[in-house]
Amino acid sequence: MVEWWRHAVIYQVYPRSFADADGDGVGDLPGITARLGHLADLGVDALWLSPFYRSPMVDGGYDVSDYRDVDPVFGTLADFDALLAEAHRLGLRVIVDIVPNHTSSLHPWFVQGRRDRYIFRDEPNGWRSLFGGPAWTQVADGQWYLHLFAPEQPDLNWHNPEVRAEFDDILRFWLDRGVDGFRVDVAHGMIKDLAGVTLFDHEDVHEIHRSWRKILDSYPGDRMAVAEVFDTAPDRVARYVSVGELHQAFNFDFLEAPWDPAVLRRIIDASLAAAVAVGAPPTWVLSNHDRRRHVTRFGSVRRARAAVLLMLGLPGSAYLYQGEELGLPEVLDLPDEVRVDPQWIRSGGTELGRDGCRVPLPWSGGAPPFGFGPGGSWLPQPADWAELTVEAQRDDPHSTLRLYREALRLRRPASTLRWLDAPDGVLLFETETTRVAANLTAAPVRIEGPASPLLSSSEMAGELPPDTTAWWTVQD
Ligand code: GLC
Repeated sequence: MVEWWRHAVIYQVYPRSFADADGDGVGDLPGITARLGHLADLGVDALWLSPFYRSPMVDGGYDVSDYRDVDPVFGTLADFDALLAEAHRLGLRVIVDIVPNHTSSLHPWFVQGRRDRYIFRDEPNGWRSLFGGPAWTQVADGQWYLHLFAPEQPDLNWHNPEVRAEFDDILRFWLDRGVDGFRVDVAHGMIKDLAGVTLFDHEDVHEIHRSWRKILDSYPGDRMAVAEVFDTAPDRVARYVSVGELHQAFNFDFLEAPWDPAVLRRIIDASLAAAVAVGAPPTWVLSNHDRRRHVTRFGSVRRARAAVLLMLGLPGSAYLYQGEELGLPEVLDLPDEVRVDPQWIRSGGTELGRDGCRVPLPWSGGAPPFGFGPGGSWLPQPADWAELTVEAQRDDPHSTLRLYREALRLRRPASTLRWLDAPDGVLLFETETTRVAANLTAAPVRIEGPASPLLSSSEMAGELPPDTTAWWTVQD
């Protein structure tokens, strides 16, 4: 049996913004549980939950103060168990986020002054935080601690065996509860060479992933882990998913690609080659909770629809980010006073940050909060999202939601890709199951082959229109 994750489509849920059951304006676990039917109808295989652990929420929950408990804003451990049981009943797997690079500064270890578990020095080096400003903060007695992200996110010292033992135990805690795997935050960051110039991808980090793989393999049922390894070349990323390490890594090169056929083809080839070399499935992703939504990046819903059919036609596994199935754009005009992202705050407002892709989902109705919950929503939703609600799109055969559903229903697992000759600006390939053509030019093109496509991202009349992708079944 092929492991489920090799061809899986995994849907990212950002819990603060998915659905709110208790009416405080912030999404929660019971809200997600109540809406799991949406994901089952969509046809995804699994969901990945961004952090829902106890947290002061300086970085939307990526600052964890207790890795074994649910933050009250999201519910309780019993709510988590109920979510997991309902997901499994619907045939959906669940992977959870693990944040091992840093804790919250309100984690008991940091509060109790366990400096041996963090990175304290008498003198800082010159490193800068990814959120802007220095990566070091001084404490009362003059020492400095390292934080690659916000000062409220002190980096852990992975040379200390107590840190390793703690995370082994945290993994087991969630595996014992029944999760199907983990998304590993900043998986290339845990080991630092303070004398070096690069903050990430230290050789010794692989030993941690090998030890985690052993833990995952000691459980029944194909548990998996996907690594977040950004700003790293494909052959280096592949080392995180080589034999004995993790199962998947996100494909940030694909996510960052412009709507350009030559660039996309180069990235697809490089991604496939890197994955094949280590026997891992390639993965694909267009949006997540850290990046500008791809409707806005590519400049139109039409292109976003073509992009997702291109992505879902590729061999391997794909990640979707909540709301992309509705064609949601980035919200660029949030008022300054509602923004909470440390990227925005620490850059002094020179970087918009990530709040614009985290605006709560519109489910139904004609006015905010569009069925998000019985209260308001922690970030304001644009009034014109009335047209983009799940309710508004459900029965419209031309809607983006219906396109996603059809694509996931018709998508067939594949492992190989063969390019076919095509006019300039057109990506044309076949997998074992599907022929895919994406027209990235401004003019319609004629594609040789069977007349009627299985599915297309915009209406077709013989030719393949501009900014359109179509699928055909491959006959054997
Ligand atoms: C990862 C997360 C991001 C978070 C950062 C620090 O990149 O995806 O949201 O801010 O790690 O934990």
